[in-house]
Amino acid sequence: MSRGVRIAPSILSADLTRLAEQVDQVATGGADWLHVDVMDGRFVPNLTFGANMVAALKKISSLPVDVHLMVVEPENYIAPMADAGAASLTFHPEATIHVQRQLAAIRQRGMKAGLALNPGTPLGRAEEVLDDIDLLLIMTVNPGFGGQSYLPASDRKIQRARALLSGGRRDVFLEVDGGIGPDTIAGAHTAGADTFVAGQAVFGAADPGAQVRELRRRCGVAT
Ligand code: DX5
Ligand code: ZN
Repeated sequence: MSRGVRIAPSILSADLTRLAEQVDQVATGGADWLHVDVMDGRFVPNLTFGANMVAALKKISSLPVDVHLMVVEPENYIAPMADAGAASLTFHPEATIHVQRQLAAIRQRGMKAGLALNPGTPLGRAEEVLDDIDLLLIMTVNPGFGGQSYLPASDRKIQRARALLSGGRRDVFLEVDGGIGPDTIAGAHTAGADTFVAGQAVFGAADPGAQVRELRRRCGVAT
């Protein structure tokens, strides 16, 4: 099944002194979701935003906010993120003991439930909860920082993820995150990804809106 292509600029790489302007630029360029990387300094060695960033984005944009939790005990963030207006909430299975319970709780709060797999985390973690996820996020770098290089082994993992999802009973977004840019997006798209997070490639570009259009074009989609 084809869902088309979704581009989700990661505001981790945005200029926070001009956040509203930059969000407006990517929205004009056709961005589909805004990706928010929440890091707690424990699951990954970096510290970023909380639910207040999601609430701020909801004030300045009508785009769905796609929240990526890189935190331990993601259960503590479900209610605050729902209240702030997150459309989807994704966490890593290593971060909590009861993965299925958290996925169900996220859905119960009206958000899409996502599971994120690090490069070294087997796909089997998702296979066990296939009926409970709306989104599978394949990390194409080790999480923690923007601006890292796409790991070449990722294309093969995306292919395997696509095969896994094709055998499932539900429609699940297949999102990739890390090192996505004009040179890597086509490979990830061909491998089966349908949703593309891009931080540095978008906000590091002279014209972030034009870069969103360019990323979509590289997937072979008319703009
Ligand atoms: C990495 C984050 C990514 C990051 C991607 O830990 O999960 O969402 O913002 O940044 P780029 O696209 O610059 O690799
Ligand atoms: Zn992310």
